[in-house]
Amino acid sequence: MSFEGGEGAGKSTQIRLLAEALRARGHTVVTTREPGGSPGAEALRHVLLSGAAEPFGVRMEALLFAAARADHLDCVIRPALGRGEIVLCDRFVDSSRVYQGVTGNIEPPLMAALERVSIGSSMPDVTLVLDLPAEVGLQRARRRAGESAEGAAPDRFEKEKLEIHEKRRQGFLDIAGREPERCRVVDASLDKDRIARDILSEVLLVIAQVSGIERAGGQAAHS
Ligand SMILES: Nc1ncnc2c1ncn2[C@@H]1O[C@H](COP(=O)(O)OP(=O)(O)O)[C@@H](O)[C@H]1O
Ligand SMILES: [Mg+2]
Repeated sequence: MSFEGGEGAGKSTQIRLLAEALRARGHTVVTTREPGGSPGAEALRHVLLSGAAEPFGVRMEALLFAAARADHLDCVIRPALGRGEIVLCDRFVDSSRVYQGVTGNIEPPLMAALERVSIGSSMPDVTLVLDLPAEVGLQRARRRAGESAEGAAPDRFEKEKLEIHEKRRQGFLDIAGREPERCRVVDASLDKDRIARDILSEVLLVIAQVSGIERAGGQAAHS
């Protein structure tokens, strides 16, 4: 399962709440994030979010995101799914589609090729798209940064213009519109406990469906 949405939409908050709720129901849950999530991918996370790769262009960045994702899948996600665990991933392929594809203007054939080599057919069973006006999300992210030990410096993507963030919001909504089977759009402006309850009920349905398919001899994996 993946969580997507703009900066400050509440992805990390909701992953934490969902993981707690699922663990309380006896599930084994792995929480992870992108870019990163495995030692190799975390090394690339630093390069990508610090802006160190930015001077080399969006193509270079897109390739690095794909490399990080391939490593993350190999080292963390597929092994956990293989053990029958539930994986909750903070950002995944839709973030690349939006940040590198939509607002990075990477040409669609290259995006498709990168998806093929990085994830193959490993798409999440469900993707929660946390939807919020970009301005509200950025305010939340700034407030969060002010409270954190790392201080208030925005990362490579947070520092971009509001207009770009709004375009990304639309990009996530467009994906959700194209893939309604996989994506659930969540109103991220609501109270966080209310959002968490709604997400939990959606996710419990998906878990029941996926385990039904597994029992019937279909594909394994809660991703
Ligand atoms: N539903 C909500 N309403 C108000 N504030 C929220 C909500 N969800 C999260 N926040 C706060 O907004 C900030 C950003 O949330 P976070 O989960 O870190 O977002 P993301 O991981 O999507 O960037 C945090 O300070 C968090 O406590
Ligand atoms: Mg976060």
